[in-house]
Amino acid sequence: MDTFPLRPREVFEALSATVVGQDAAIRELSVAIVKHLVGHPAPNILMIGNSGSGKTTLMRAIEQFLASRPDLSHSANVIRINANVLAEEHQGYGRVVLGRLFANARTILGTDAALPNLLRSVEHGIVFIDEVDKIRAQVSGQPNVRGIVAQEALLTLMENENVEFETNGMNFAVNSSNVLFIVGGAFEELYEAVFRRATIGQDVAPMKPIVVVSASGEVREELPFHLRDYLKYEDLFRYGMTPQFVSRFESIVVLNDLAESDLARIFVEPEASIFRTSRAYFQRFGIDLQITRGALIAIAWDAARQKRLGARALRETFRRVIGGLEFDPADAGSHVITVDEAMVKQTIAGREQGTPRPR
Ligand SMILES: Nc1ncnc2c1ncn2[C@@H]1O[C@H](COP(=O)(O)OP(=O)(O)OP(=O)(O)O)[C@@H](O)[C@H]1O
Ligand SMILES: [Mg+2]
Repeated sequence: MDTFPLRPREVFEALSATVVGQDAAIRELSVAIVKHLVGHPAPNILMIGNSGSGKTTLMRAIEQFLASRPDLSHSANVIRINANVLAEEHQGYGRVVLGRLFANARTILGTDAALPNLLRSVEHGIVFIDEVDKIRAQVSGQPNVRGIVAQEALLTLMENENVEFETNGMNFAVNSSNVLFIVGGAFEELYEAVFRRATIGQDVAPMKPIVVVSASGEVREELPFHLRDYLKYEDLFRYGMTPQFVSRFESIVVLNDLAESDLARIFVEPEASIFRTSRAYFQRFGIDLQITRGALIAIAWDAARQKRLGARALRETFRRVIGGLEFDPADAGSHVITVDEAMVKQTIAGREQGTPRPR
């Protein structure tokens, strides 16, 4: 018997080169993807994670990994869409998903592929739906029709053995119950609601602050809150995801909030990291961009303080540090530019005092 050419560990390792600090989520997704590709029942996955924690990055990384494998690219029909699209009436309430899978099947199998093969590819598709928290059934206590419609559209797709869709003026019917759905969202107010419950201690023991020491030596008190430890299904219902919807996800994965050490790695390690990208820019002018360890720690420390931005904060901080040099690289008058701790700290201090960006 031929063995399947892909193991979860291999997927995990490939994704880990791009996505930092989310090992548990990557593991779970790697197993689900391999199960699905091999033809085993795979759990639909709901990913919850703060803004900038890597949800979209993770979805994209899987998409790219599967596309990069010639032995899998034909069997892996993967699409990524924004949840808002599901609520578009003129697209046919979620049928757009099947239309997109069909179009993708034609791309990977060829426009002259036999219809049964195209439809089989649609039936075994992998669908990433991003920003699923935007399709709440109610917002501030008021029903949200678009959200209700979109959740129902997805439900129809998740369990229907005979869904019709139209594409290029032709009608088709498929069994969409084996399509793998991996959806994600930040669920911002959910964090707040559960955090409140956890801190006030309505139904759990209230949290006590712990003292943490950051990589830069700063000591501060923090509440050891991890959504994963406190999240209940009712929290998701209250947020506006219907019980029918939530129950279709056999797996709910909560992403980690990125720690200072993760942020430092994100800043330098991935192939398209902020630092590597910036280095490549300066290389075009014959300049070798370097960074000291102290500067790296200071950037990560600054980003970690901006809780709501996740890894996006790195970009903001670094832009302030490097902006002037990017404008006129030759002006530096040297073939090496080293970003050091003093430069970063000066920039951070400047921002706090509201002064213009230093050069
Ligand atoms: N875990 C991570 N590993 C590597 N890079 C990350 C990670 N998290 C975030 N980033 C970087 O930060 C930026 C924002 O991340 P991403 O778009 O994945 O966030 P998100 O979780 O989808 O947030 P949102 O809920 O706001 O859509 C990306 O450019 C990405 O490079
Ligand atoms: Mg995102």
